[in-house]
Amino acid sequence: MKNIKAIIFDAYGTLFDVNSAAEKCKDKIGDKWEGFSNYWRTTQLEYTWLRSLMKRHKDFWQITEDSLDKSMKVFSIDPSMRNELLNLYKVLSPFKEVPEVLRTLAEKKFKLAILSNGTPSLLNELVKSNNLNNIFDDLFSVEQVGVYKPDSKVYDIPIKKYQIQKDEVVFLSANTWDVSGGGNYGYKAIWVNRNNNIFDNLDYEPNFEIKDLYGLLSKI
Ligand code: LAC
Repeated sequence: MKNIKAIIFDAYGTLFDVNSAAEKCKDKIGDKWEGFSNYWRTTQLEYTWLRSLMKRHKDFWQITEDSLDKSMKVFSIDPSMRNELLNLYKVLSPFKEVPEVLRTLAEKKFKLAILSNGTPSLLNELVKSNNLNNIFDDLFSVEQVGVYKPDSKVYDIPIKKYQIQKDEVVFLSANTWDVSGGGNYGYKAIWVNRNNNIFDNLDYEPNFEIKDLYGLLSKI
């Protein structure tokens, strides 16, 4: 890939494992922890899309709480787990190769940033709690534009800040719909396919598919 000026990462599910909150409670939740965690994540994303379409924005933390409340009812999770799950969601663990690859990239000449649905304070806490706070040039949040991915106003944020062309950005996401969103917008998009999933039919094929972030190092 040539003419790359910025490498921009999605946060939730790409750098940080959204299942790590429920997984840390699996002794208390039992075998249903994974189904519950997937349902929470799916509901959370649906709420971002629905609220964007309805033009009734609430920030990602409120959406995370609202989707948790529904998911706990659906899976009959003891209400006393609520605070623990929410506190763990603020300090999600990174996937295991992430710190090493980010530190390698930080030595190179690209702008490095996160572009996420998360609020600025959530993103700050996530990177700080994982000792990644000196890596990024920017933590871009949808709160700047008050609408969620995949609205193009979101993908515009780094382009405006860095005054670069869309195809000078490499955008990485593990969320297939976010790869399509960024790719359709004009980024060079890479799908981080950690679990051998099937890509979406949304008129976009990613420029590259990698199994984890190590795969990025050979492409740039
Ligand atoms: C984010 C969601 C898509 O971090 O995971 O923006």
